[in-house]
Amino acid sequence: MSGRSEEEFYVVNSYTEWDPLEEVVVGSLAGGVFPTWQESMGPTLPHDSVRIFKERGGTPLPAEHAAAAEEELDGFAAVLRERGITVVRPEPADHARTFGTPQWQSAGNSSGMPRDLLIVVGDTIVETPMSWRCRKHEVDAFRGLIKSYFRRGGGWLAAPQPELKDTLFDGDFDAATETGWAVSDFEPVFDAADFMRFGDDLIVQRSHVTNEFGIEWMRRALGSRFRVHEVPVNDPHAMHIDATMVPLAPGKLLVNPDRYIPNPLFRDWEILEAPKPALGPDWPMYFCSPWLSMNVLSLDEKTIVVERQEQPLLDALTDWGFTCVPVDFRHVYSFGGSFHCATLDVRRRGRGGTYLNGTA
Ligand code: ALA
Repeated sequence: MSGRSEEEFYVVNSYTEWDPLEEVVVGSLAGGVFPTWQESMGPTLPHDSVRIFKERGGTPLPAEHAAAAEEELDGFAAVLRERGITVVRPEPADHARTFGTPQWQSAGNSSGMPRDLLIVVGDTIVETPMSWRCRKHEVDAFRGLIKSYFRRGGGWLAAPQPELKDTLFDGDFDAATETGWAVSDFEPVFDAADFMRFGDDLIVQRSHVTNEFGIEWMRRALGSRFRVHEVPVNDPHAMHIDATMVPLAPGKLLVNPDRYIPNPLFRDWEILEAPKPALGPDWPMYFCSPWLSMNVLSLDEKTIVVERQEQPLLDALTDWGFTCVPVDFRHVYSFGGSFHCATLDVRRRGRGGTYLNGTA
């Protein structure tokens, strides 16, 4: 990191999901709209959302529910601040505005889930090439923050801008057998939330938004210090790994019992199967499965923010030796994520290291 002082170097610094959290971005759903429909969304979405997005794409999120979700986001931010963690928020954005290229037009989505579009690896914020057209400009609401971190010495790396032409969406997904992928390898695309950080190692899943070209781009862009391991998972609807495998501390991995495939990278790790989510079938879930229960945020390797009503998970994590901080977040669930999705940890203590088996 030549040319940067130690203090500047530390402005952006996050290598794991569990080191002590010092600064975090919390998303905002203000100005959010339903996504403009595109076919590649189908394999990832709850069944009813296909119709809802087709009918209501580009129109505002349901006002009362979205306002309750925004209150939950504010409440979560307040809990973090009370613990001495610096919280920053995106700039206001009107996601109903349409944009496009010579090939296509779309309205936006929301600024609720920074984890999907940005990833901090060490001292660098990486902007990802997202494959949902409606998310092409989502990063704009976070640009002021990214520029500010850069000016103070943080690293900034943006992936090549994808064209998102129809050719990208000629994947080999077969709806009858639920095999294959919605995106081809036409150009690199990936969502940040398909990655998980373990010091000098990252894991990633191939998904309906992340292709092999994107994984290889990330592998080369991060350089020789970091190793990127593609892990197989049992998830025909794969989009984002943070309700599938969630590391809580060195040697402690929370897994989704339906999706996790035992992996030699975790040979010496304790594995806890997450209990079934507490959420009932009638709660509106436009983007995700109820497994968002697992989408927790570690404040350090002993302390975890968990949704207040997820009692089975609260009990299991407490029994496993963690201190849980219960926070209301069910209205946010509806719009595509829980605590991990809705945040971007910009600064955690720690400088990396080797935690996975067989990688050193
Ligand atoms: N796509 C993941 C799920 O819905 C987060 O469980």
